[in-house]
Amino acid sequence: MSGLTVGIIGMGFMGSVHARHYRDNGRVDRLLVATPVEQEQKIARERFGAEVFSDYRSMIQQGQPQAVSICTPNFDHYEIASWLMQEAPGIAILIEKPLGVNDQQVAKLTKLAAGHQSPILVGHSLRFAGAYIKGRELLRQNAIGKPCYLEARYKWFKDFSKFPAWKRDPELSGGGFLMQSGLHMLDLFVWYADSPVVEVTGHAEDLYFKDFPVEDTFFGTVRFANGVAAHLVGSSATKGFIDYGIEVYGERGAIKVESVAVPGGLDIDNHSVSLFTEESAYSPSGALVIPSAPKSDFWKDEINHFVSCVLDGTAPIVTPADAKIVMDVCFALYKSAALGGKTIRL
Ligand SMILES: NC(=O)c1ccc[n+]([C@@H]2O[C@H](COP(=O)([O-])OP(=O)(O)OC[C@H]3O[C@@H](n4cnc5c(N)ncnc54)[C@H](O)[C@@H]3O)[C@@H](O)[C@H]2O)c1
Repeated sequence: MSGLTVGIIGMGFMGSVHARHYRDNGRVDRLLVATPVEQEQKIARERFGAEVFSDYRSMIQQGQPQAVSICTPNFDHYEIASWLMQEAPGIAILIEKPLGVNDQQVAKLTKLAAGHQSPILVGHSLRFAGAYIKGRELLRQNAIGKPCYLEARYKWFKDFSKFPAWKRDPELSGGGFLMQSGLHMLDLFVWYADSPVVEVTGHAEDLYFKDFPVEDTFFGTVRFANGVAAHLVGSSATKGFIDYGIEVYGERGAIKVESVAVPGGLDIDNHSVSLFTEESAYSPSGALVIPSAPKSDFWKDEINHFVSCVLDGTAPIVTPADAKIVMDVCFALYKSAALGGKTIRL
């Protein structure tokens, strides 16, 4: 099978990212785009050579794609994905994170997905970032022994006042910092700790963007059945400062995957990976910087993986069932925060 027809639903920031990588994939013949916004239809046509529809149902019925990407605002994921899973069982689906904005939506979608006949991938993008893959590989290769403690730092000033309105509305987004950004770190926790979550404690804060009803900062602790504890220090209230990455502390040493800040933001594909152990050949800074941490393009690799799921039968590496585990942690953390930091058992 070759010459894939792919439909993208939503042509904002993430829809454009998907379109670029489908266009460059080499195995996608036709690109379809559904968005109700005329300016975005123009971009889809002119920049990506897409056939354009104003509604996703007509795109599916008239365009007959074999695969679709859902890149709409968070609140729409459930309606669109559940429609596709019920009406179009032969279509492969890449659904952007989050899987849903509340636990009922996530539970229903996970159930529907289990009966879907075609691959479904959820866009937990850091699982495609070379440095994070390398950090986890080191952990699995026993480079630092059994892990004890994980710490994720996601400090990156993002100007809420310039966000699309839906991102500032908790009903439409499902939440602020944690749902929109911190979710990537919760995903790393679950992926790295590789053990069921047993309890969480969280605190949501409005420290900088006090005028918006979504939190700009979240501090969370997640405990796993294997004894690992993980702590998230996450904030968009960090003007002029970026610190993004994860540290893994084990019985014999530590692994640090660290962001590289560049003018105007962060180069997520250009993290460095360092290993700290007593046996290492120490660099002057005390760490062995892993030279083989591959530079990747994680969004591109995610799209290429999805195309391979459709055309080659590759198993999706983040299924709705995997995403549900992360979403359950996220919802439990919000519940804890709403109860003033009460410990929530899962
Ligand atoms: N994986 C990642 O790293 C990552 C990064 C950013 C955003 N995202 C996710 O991608 C999704 C989109 O975020 P964004 O930043 O692109 O938002 P955005 O507001 O820039 O884009 C959303 C688009 O959806 C369109 N839209 C709304 N309802 C629609 C409908 N019913 N049918 C078709 N189009 C519709 C809007 O016109 C807009 O083009 C979100 O769920 C977000 O969480 C993921």
